[in-house]
Amino acid sequence: MIDILRESTSQLHQSLESQLGGFTSVNTVARYRALLRCYRALFGDLRTEWQRHPIALDWSPNLDQRIADLDTDLSQLPSVPAHPTGDEAFSLPRLDAVGLRAGCLYVVEGSALGGLMLARDFATRIPELTDDSLHFFQGAGPAATSRRWRAFMAWLASREWTTPETTAATNCATATFAYFSARLSPAMPNESACA
Ligand code: HEM
Repeated sequence: MIDILRESTSQLHQSLESQLGGFTSVNTVARYRALLRCYRALFGDLRTEWQRHPIALDWSPNLDQRIADLDTDLSQLPSVPAHPTGDEAFSLPRLDAVGLRAGCLYVVEGSALGGLMLARDFATRIPELTDDSLHFFQGAGPAATSRRWRAFMAWLASREWTTPETTAATNCATATFAYFSARLSPAMPNESACA
């Protein structure tokens, strides 16, 4: 399963990284705050969708923790006047089957890996930022983040996935990448939907 997910989404990851430009345009506290607001909306809606379906899974997503970290970080940053948020509808990935959820989790869990690097970049680029507003990207730190990722891969490997489940996982990973892309693009220059 993990190899198929990697293979089918590596191009999407690259495109997303180019689209976001490694977040180099996020170079002020106000832009960092706008980015966190986008992430907060992204994870908030994803959690709501996740909770809508009572599907048992023997892997616990850490959506609550990631949202709590975002709220902590946002509470540490100076407030800026809110821009209109618009009424754009974002297509959430479908999460009503185990295979779909595995694909979504792959993207959500994987997104924490790049975060460690991004936390260092933001701290360098925006000297006013302290650790108090970098919880979301720092996560539980390098050791715990890589431990969690290894545990997630072990979980994926420990289960027998049927072909339809693997197909569903691939489709949902693709949809989840598209969801991240749509939700984070307003934080890029000249956009203000999440500020
Ligand atoms: C500009 C922003 C990003 C950068 C610089 C970045 C960078 C990275 C890096 C360096 C890794 C490998 C980490 C390691 O092996 O220890 C990684 C893995 C990953 N990232 Fe990103 N990332 C970014 C954004 C994202 C986003 C927004 C998502 C989710 C949509 C995402 C999904 C993933 C996934 C799924 C993996 C795991 C790949 C695998 O090994 O199977 N990344 N990222």
